[in-house]
Parts: sequence; structure tokens; C-alpha cells
Amino acid sequence: MSTDAIVLLKDDHKQIRKAFTDFEKAGESAHVEKGKIVDRIIELLTVHTYVENEVMYPRVRELLPDLEDDVLESYEEHHVADLLVVELASMKPTDERFTAKTTVLIENVRHHVEEEEGEWFPQVRAGLGRKQLQEIGAELLEARKQAPRRPSQPSALKKTVDAVIS
Ligand SMILES: [Fe+2]
Ligand SMILES: [Fe+2]
Repeated sequence: MSTDAIVLLKDDHKQIRKAFTDFEKAGESAHVEKGKIVDRIIELLTVHTYVENEVMYPRVRELLPDLEDDVLESYEEHHVADLLVVELASMKPTDERFTAKTTVLIENVRHHVEEEEGEWFPQVRAGLGRKQLQEIGAELLEARKQAPRRPSQPSALKKTVDAVIS
């Protein structure tokens, strides 16, 4: 398996997009199914956000200072998604706002993923060598092992709280 950082992150994106489509295909009143899909979306996003925040963004910021503004914007986009994820995690699929909140989360994340894949990753690939991308990828895989799976786990919640109060 390649450890190229961009290949790994794109693979995450693919799984995330698949879960989004599954949610959209689920019937309006398929509460149990929608609940399970949202649990999966929450887990995928929590892990992915953690490895990008902890490894990908800081490394790129350090190696390619020209891309700093994009990194800062990405932190903010992750933060908005984090807030929605924290709220969704405490909701039941039967709650009136459950589907609406999930839909807004999906719209936000889709926009962010499109920007990463369409604009940001190509710039990162152009700026970094293959070897650097593989080293970052190896770090991403390490970080994944200790990544939180649910936003209620302290490391993820702490990040959200820090972002709110700072
Ligand atoms: Fe991201
Ligand atoms: Fe991403």
C-alpha cells in the first residue's frame, strides 16, 4: 500500500463521500439505518479531521509557507464541521433537526473536500517531493492509530473547546 499522504487522504475522502451518498439514499423514515450511517460519518470525520489537523496541515504549513492561508482556512472549515458533529453525536435520528443538521454537515464537508482535491492537493503535490509525501503519509498512518473515534473522546472535544474559547 502506498503511504503517499495525498493518496491516503483521498482514500478517506472516498469513504466519506460514500457514507454521504448512503445517507442521502436512505428513506426519509429509515431512522435506524440513518442513525447507523451518521455514526459512521461521525467516526470517519473525527479520524480524518484529527490526522489532517495533527499531521498534514502542520507539515505543509512548515514546508510550504505560501500555502499557509489555505491551511488556516481549512482549520476553520474543520472547526465548523466539528461543531456540527458534536451536536449530531448527541442527537437521536428521530429528532426533528437530525436530517437537516446532517444535510448541512454533508454540504459543508463536500465543499471542503472539493477544495482540497481540486485546488489544495495539486499545489501540495507540486511543492513537495514524492519522498516528503511518503514520510508525511507514514506519520498520518501513525496518527490514525491514536485518533479519537467519537467527538466525545477528550482529544477531539478539547480541540473543539480550544477553538471556541481561543
Ligand atoms: Fe480537510
Ligand atoms: Fe480532507
